[in-house]
Amino acid sequence: MVCLGNICRSPLAEGIMLHKIKAANLDWQVDSAGTNGYHVNEAPHYLSQRVAKKHGIDISKQLCRRFVAEDFERFDKVYAMAADIIDEIKSISGNKYNGEKVDLLMNEAYPGENRDIPDPWYGPEAGYKTVFDMIDIACDALINNTLKDSDRQ
Ligand code: 4NP
Repeated sequence: MVCLGNICRSPLAEGIMLHKIKAANLDWQVDSAGTNGYHVNEAPHYLSQRVAKKHGIDISKQLCRRFVAEDFERFDKVYAMAADIIDEIKSISGNKYNGEKVDLLMNEAYPGENRDIPDPWYGPEAGYKTVFDMIDIACDALINNTLKDSDRQ
């Protein structure tokens, strides 16, 4: 789960996804990272922590890290929160970039629509709720889509 700062959106995506895979008894690895590295080793933004907590999800122990090219070796899928993040992932990853592993997270719920999850960093608390709700829908779809695909194989 990748955004710009790894402070607002992707920590929520990591926390929501971990919460859902635990509930579904799935053995999946999930992590999050940011492309700009400005907040490395910081905990998530307090408003992301607050909206997560309201839904029973504790993201307070997460620490910000920067996305690295080697993430393409560790993970089967790399989900970007917005299109500009895909550009940043490309420039960080160089020849390790693998477009087949990359998608916008919202495409799991709305295939092919290329919806961005808006950056809540400069806005009010309501933006964090919007982000939570969007990611919640996308993570449900991600699990359903992946399980459907594995049934077919
Ligand atoms: P995020 O939001 O990408 O959702 O974590 C941001 C957090 C910090 C900054 C930008 C976006 N920043 O430039 O510091």
